[in-house]
Amino acid sequence: MQTKSYQFSSAKVDYYFDAGFSYLTKRIDSAHAVLITDEHVFQSHKKKFAGWNTIVLKPGEAYKVQATVDTIIEQLIALKADRKTFLVGIGGGVITDLTGYVAAVYMRGLRVGFVPTTILAMVDASIGGKNGIDVGVYKNLVGTIRQPEFLLYDYSFLKSLPKQEWINGFAEIIKHSCIKDAALFKELEKHKLTHYQKNNTDLAKLIRRNAAIKSAVVEKDEFEKGDRRLLNFGHTLGHAIENMYELSHGQAISIGMGAACRISEQLTGFRETDRVVKVLEQYGLPVFAEFDRKKAFTVLKMDKKREQAAMNYVLLQKIGKGTVQAIPMDQLQQLINQL
Ligand SMILES: NC(=O)c1ccc[n+]([C@@H]2O[C@H](COP(=O)([O-])OP(=O)(O)OC[C@H]3O[C@@H](n4cnc5c(N)ncnc54)[C@H](O)[C@@H]3O)[C@@H](O)[C@H]2O)c1
Ligand SMILES: [Zn+2]
Repeated sequence: MQTKSYQFSSAKVDYYFDAGFSYLTKRIDSAHAVLITDEHVFQSHKKKFAGWNTIVLKPGEAYKVQATVDTIIEQLIALKADRKTFLVGIGGGVITDLTGYVAAVYMRGLRVGFVPTTILAMVDASIGGKNGIDVGVYKNLVGTIRQPEFLLYDYSFLKSLPKQEWINGFAEIIKHSCIKDAALFKELEKHKLTHYQKNNTDLAKLIRRNAAIKSAVVEKDEFEKGDRRLLNFGHTLGHAIENMYELSHGQAISIGMGAACRISEQLTGFRETDRVVKVLEQYGLPVFAEFDRKKAFTVLKMDKKREQAAMNYVLLQKIGKGTVQAIPMDQLQQLINQL
């Protein structure tokens, strides 16, 4: 196990990389803990949950809503959870977002840690303290920013992860390389998904490197006044079309990244769209898609990155260097119509 701590402005978070799940018993007291997971994770890893109070939720983004929060709260009451109770979210980003949110509001705040079990949650969703739920088509409209105390990485969970979920996670990895790490982009160009599925050492390094990229960005800018906005590369349009078309998050942001590259060509003089498109396709992600531009723009207007008449849009100057530009809404509408 390798331990690393990141000091965010609001709290320190311990990362246990390459840890076994059983380390949880050393980190927290199982008598005062409730694990929250979903049916997929629970069914595939039942043995790991033996001896723990566990709340098992229905899987999927459709359940990242207030009704599920209510269900969790009812079960916490039934389990007599109090302020001493430690919550641990064990799952993908849906579970870590829900668990973080419940931990922020139940009795005005419980201690919380995460065991991310998807690539996406390992490199992205479990890191940075953002949590929340969806409201209708509006993703993550309601939530808080509050750090977990620890993240425990047990890669054995990935054995049961479906291929489509691997692909989803790689969309965020490619995103990190585009905005921050040209060398990582080059490494990704050299390989395919199967390389990382077969090679545990390279996978562990890749996950650490990506967890470090996200953590460093958040360390500098926990409350998203500057650099943290870069992490939204591909996400403005991506989020708008994700719920409209029931795309996976990875597919949606991949299309969003392709669009952001083409918008960058016009606004920053970016000239490497072809390389980005090639890497996305190499990892099984879609880039070009027909979508209802008018409706997408209507949904996009509600995005949290809009500030009055302009949208803070993440563009690329070159591979490895993202930048944020405020694009006036009418210009953005035109750019999207032209895609
Ligand atoms: N808080 C943040 O900063 C942040 C950042 C990025 C994404 N997110 C959120 O994360 C969510 C997406 O995360 P996700 O892709 O991990 O989604 P997810 O939690 O829905 O997991 C994807 C699927 O994989 C299954 N699964 C998870 N782990 C498994 C395992 N080890 N074996 C077998 N099946 C497994 C789940 O049951 C689900 O069906 C979105 O809601 C997104 O908004 C949050
Ligand atoms: Zn994302």
